[in-house]
Amino acid sequence: MRYAHITGWGKYLPQRIMTNDDLARIVDTSDAWIRERTGIRMRHIAADHETTASMSTAAAMAALDRAGVSPNELDLIIVATATPDHIFPATACLVQDALGADRAGAFDLSAACSGFVYALSVAADRIRAGSANTVLVIGAETLSRIINWNDRSTCVLFGDGAGAVVLQGSDQPGGVLSTLLRSDGGGGDLLIVPAGGCKMPLTPEVLSKRLNTLHMNGREVYRFASRVLDRAAREVMHKAGWTSDQVDLFVPHQANLRIIESAARALNIPMEKVFCNIEHYGNTSAASVPIALAEAAESGRLRPRDRVVIVGFGAGLTWAAAAIEWSEPHAMRRSRWVLSRVSYGLAGVRSRARRLLRRVEDRLFGAGEQAPATHPHKNGVTEERKEPVAPAPDRRSN
Ligand code: ACO
Repeated sequence: MRYAHITGWGKYLPQRIMTNDDLARIVDTSDAWIRERTGIRMRHIAADHETTASMSTAAAMAALDRAGVSPNELDLIIVATATPDHIFPATACLVQDALGADRAGAFDLSAACSGFVYALSVAADRIRAGSANTVLVIGAETLSRIINWNDRSTCVLFGDGAGAVVLQGSDQPGGVLSTLLRSDGGGGDLLIVPAGGCKMPLTPEVLSKRLNTLHMNGREVYRFASRVLDRAAREVMHKAGWTSDQVDLFVPHQANLRIIESAARALNIPMEKVFCNIEHYGNTSAASVPIALAEAAESGRLRPRDRVVIVGFGAGLTWAAAAIEWSEPHAMRRSRWVLSRVSYGLAGVRSRARRLLRRVEDRLFGAGEQAPATHPHKNGVTEERKEPVAPAPDRRSN
């Protein structure tokens, strides 16, 4: 039987810090209100040159180092994000290219704040099924780019960052032992970025109404989170055969300290066994659980064979949980670390060379390979090709 072990972890937070007092200079709020209602003191905000892909890559490199895995050993890269660099290509492909992970498939997973736990579950299932052995799972967000900085009810809550883990197959029992994925699309409008997709393309009117930014019904999302958080944790513990007093660390999505405290009370888990870093980072959506895992492991709060329960919840609505037996990291030797740095440098050179080669090929052979704008008529006479006409939009639905 195959098991999926977490053998490496890493995180990346942008350098720029925005405190509650900084926010109070932008909107009508106060440090006291934000701390009392959410537990947040500060958040990290991406610099102009930073993106979800660049932060993902930095977190991924740290996780690969920790696991002692080189990028060409990766079978799959999954990036869980609600703020991809582009609609396509997938951010995971940009990470694959930056790492030079030439053997890896790559895709993004969209499940908002539950995204990392969803992605971890998919990765673990592929490993257990034998279709992959080494998978990089990343949760990363640049939420500062989709926030309405004039809306005090949302802009105080979120931050940017990335976390990553390496999952590896083994015959040794342990690792990701049970998972749960759930959704309720009926609550989709409670937490939504209304515009920017095909339903509401960006127009000057849409932009002036800021419909391309995050909109949230905070009270309803709060109620939903309080309902599902402890239930999801209970279910994965039950599937793993654990009771709550056997859990060493509970790592919930960091959205609101009050939600975390009430879930811990409901689960009968003391707060010493609950990992909270919301005061430093705010809600980093899909990045919050992997950042917390990396921080817990780095600070010694997670040790090999510890039993950890992680839970995510958020837009969709979605929620997800996993019960994990923590594994021993494979320490990377110095020589291997140096080699991996060289290989990252070469990955950049290789990527640029491939782009250049494609451009040269396009110049030399492109025109000859292009599909002809005309096609032969059945009697041999060439006809001008008629472009298909897009159907008129159905006005009844408006
Ligand atoms: N500063 C000062 N006052 C504020 C602020 C602010 N930043 N924001 C709202 N207020 C005011 C409101 O206007 C309201 O005033 P009123 O009573 O005069 O109308 C009052 O504070 C109370 O507002 P509530 O919305 O009831 O405040 P609440 O205690 O519910 O806290 C919060 C709001 C923090 C947003 C909370 O509802 C919450 O945490 N919800 C869950 C959010 C969440 O978990 N999201 C996770 C998923 S994120 C994802 O998937 C991307």
